[in-house]
Amino acid sequence: MRAPRLVGRAHELAALRRMLGEARSGASSVVCLEGTPGIGKTALLRAAVAMARESDFTVVTAQASAIERDFPFAVVRQLFEPVIARASSAERMALLTGSAVHATQALTAEPPAPGIQVSPALLHATFHGLYWLTANLTASSPVLLAVDEVQWADAPSLRWLSYLLRRIESMPLVVLFTLTIGEEAAEAHLVTDLVNAAYRVRLDALAAEDVASLAEDVFGVDTDPDFAAACHAATGGNPFLIRELLYALEHEDVKPTAEAVPTIRELGPQALARSVTARLQRHALPV
Ligand SMILES: Nc1ncnc2c1ncn2[C@@H]1O[C@H](COP(=O)(O)OP(=O)(O)O)[C@@H](O)[C@H]1O
Ligand SMILES: [Mg+2]
Repeated sequence: MRAPRLVGRAHELAALRRMLGEARSGASSVVCLEGTPGIGKTALLRAAVAMARESDFTVVTAQASAIERDFPFAVVRQLFEPVIARASSAERMALLTGSAVHATQALTAEPPAPGIQVSPALLHATFHGLYWLTANLTASSPVLLAVDEVQWADAPSLRWLSYLLRRIESMPLVVLFTLTIGEEAAEAHLVTDLVNAAYRVRLDALAAEDVASLAEDVFGVDTDPDFAAACHAATGGNPFLIRELLYALEHEDVKPTAEAVPTIRELGPQALARSVTARLQRHALPV
């Protein structure tokens, strides 16, 4: 089996490539990839990260999660701690020069004790410092800043991201978010503010011919169009479900021919339910 590859996303990949190109010439972009679970948001974000690395961008990424959304600046820390940790001491001085030094409030400071309010002046200095840290990062190469599952980001990080977006027009920077539709965001109004400032790309279901090419990856042979159409119908074109179904069929030794269509109709929902349940159990959160 060949390495997983993206199918049916030529337009989205071209748009991302164009934005990276524009960033190289000093024009920023903000883009939000949105869609239902399993539709391929993270896969596309990873493709953008790979393209950016190939073009010598500095890439800073964060994966927001429900577990961390109560931790102030959790997303900001994920974004910037690794670049600062990797930097030589000279590079670190350059990154944290001038007002950027106040970024360390968010990155290293102890969180305030419960009930203690951070003064607006200190918060503003921290936001400004993080903005300058971003600006300083763009001084040596263009930057891709990517946040997966932005609806789970903590409130201070969401506020800071909105603050950043209002100040980046002529920076060599691409800001990329993914947003899962149908999840109730913890900080709905902050998330709405943020994604409304982005170029929003809604990811649609894959087409039947995309299913055929994924099936060819899995089975290593040409597949019958009726087989692909039946898999498409059983999964609604959701890439996650398509992969689960194809692996389940391969596991059951079903061949990708028209004869398999009744089996897919019958086995499809059961196979999907089994593999999705197994996966959910593996990822179950401790309570
Ligand atoms: N366009 C695509 N072509 C092939 N596989 C895909 C595509 N999009 C997603 N996948 C695969 O489907 C699964 C779910 O995708 P993922 O990006 O994790 O979804 P999301 O982040 O929207 O929940 C992953 O295994 C991914 O590799
Ligand atoms: Mg995802």
